[in-house]
Amino acid sequence: MTKSADQLPKPVLEKQTPARALPGDKPLSDKVESMLRVDHAGEFGAVRIYAGQRAVMGDTHPKAGLLKHMFEQEEVHLDKFNKMLTERGVRPTAMGPIWHVAGFALGAATAFMGEKAAMACTAAVEEVIEDHYQEQLDCLEAENAEPELQETIRAFQAEEVEHREIALQHGAEETPGYPVLSGLIKLGCKAAIEISKRV
Ligand SMILES: [Fe+2]
Ligand SMILES: [Fe+2]
Repeated sequence: MTKSADQLPKPVLEKQTPARALPGDKPLSDKVESMLRVDHAGEFGAVRIYAGQRAVMGDTHPKAGLLKHMFEQEEVHLDKFNKMLTERGVRPTAMGPIWHVAGFALGAATAFMGEKAAMACTAAVEEVIEDHYQEQLDCLEAENAEPELQETIRAFQAEEVEHREIALQHGAEETPGYPVLSGLIKLGCKAAIEISKRV
């Protein structure tokens, strides 16, 4: 015989008190500082990737306008995090000089492989960033904290989604070896995120 819904035991989670910090958990201010540092690093990396692609593809390439559009949005994102870092006295990642070179190199290398590889790079990077921003939003929403930062992240995340969609519409997945290329780039981005949170 099947039990009706009110005969079934209630989920234990309902009875628990709201999430509390566990011993060893970082205070929220440390988490937010780390978020700002990694977001600033990520937007810096994005600017450098698009700069690398634009340098290789040039202003007369049919995709030049698209790249310029995405590049300029990344500059706005970077500017905002620059300001937030300064206002709050948060130091930027010490990896800046590395991301400066690595971002540009990734953009340039994929652009050399062709415009579809450049788009595959964008699609991969933006997918990682979109998820990364979502993780931060989940954390801040759960803590009901940092409304300005939440609003900023939401706005930027929407533009990262737009960038990813542009890349997919312009043949990202048609580049030879797409799954491998995309997988490698995502792995690299995730590593860069983890490093920039800490260093
Ligand atoms: Fe961005
Ligand atoms: Fe983006």
